[in-house]
Amino acid sequence: MTTMSPARRQRRAIARKANWLWVDETWATPATSYPLNRVGDMRIHREAADSGLYRYYMLDGHEHYYTTGHHVTSLQEWNPPGPRRASEGPWHTWMVDDPPHWRAMKGYAQAARGHVLVAGLGLGLVLWALADNPTVESITVVERSHDVISLVAPLLNPYIASRTPKAPTLRIEQADFTEFVNRVPDTDPGWDTVIVDLWVAHGLPQVFDIGAREVVPMETMLRAKWPEARLAFHGYDTMFGDITVPRTARTDG
Ligand SMILES: C[S@@+](CC[C@H](N)C(=O)[O-])C[C@H]1O[C@@H](n2cnc3c(N)ncnc32)[C@H](O)[C@@H]1O
Repeated sequence: MTTMSPARRQRRAIARKANWLWVDETWATPATSYPLNRVGDMRIHREAADSGLYRYYMLDGHEHYYTTGHHVTSLQEWNPPGPRRASEGPWHTWMVDDPPHWRAMKGYAQAARGHVLVAGLGLGLVLWALADNPTVESITVVERSHDVISLVAPLLNPYIASRTPKAPTLRIEQADFTEFVNRVPDTDPGWDTVIVDLWVAHGLPQVFDIGAREVVPMETMLRAKWPEARLAFHGYDTMFGDITVPRTARTDG
């Protein structure tokens, strides 16, 4: 057992009083063990978070989390076109496995049922959580980037394949998500759950802009195509989704 320094014990007591989630160096996700690698313009990157207070968006009732400096693994693209945050430099971050992202992915996965369609592979985090849900029968992922698929798919397949006997089957399709949906014939039974996570927004104006320009038409398209499907939209779950990540305190400790 490791002993805690007085300063750390004091910070922990403050975090508890303030209802901040406590995160330390031992905090990990399935992506924490991914090898650092680059394929084409995509790479897996890892760095330690600065210790301090970060937003947790009221997930499980916590407005913030306090970290002593956990590791963050990210999927990044070299110099893509389009709007980016000035502070990003030449690497654009598509996905991070920080506490709120991992909590959100687990939330969508826990609420998923049956045949599940996932828009955007990213780090594949949501797939790890889906594979732990015994009510999931199959997973189809649609990802636009060949490089993301080459980089991340080999890290997932052995795990998903090893889930027996109720292992959900995993299929990864290279396509633009909207084009993929439009190509599926109307006679196809479709999916029971659709988890959409395609967008990275920096700041509220971009959240609003993407919501109006992309999320609204996508919701309309998906509800027209598969009226029975339950939808999750990461970043927009409370606005458009049937599946939301809990914002109230957990009662299971
Ligand atoms: C935020 S990440 C997804 C993270 C993922 N949910 C996870 O659990 O790690 C977004 C992904 O969507 C892909 N993407 C972006 N636009 C797309 C589109 N129109 N069609 C298909 N994939 C797209 C990006 O290449 C990226 O891999």
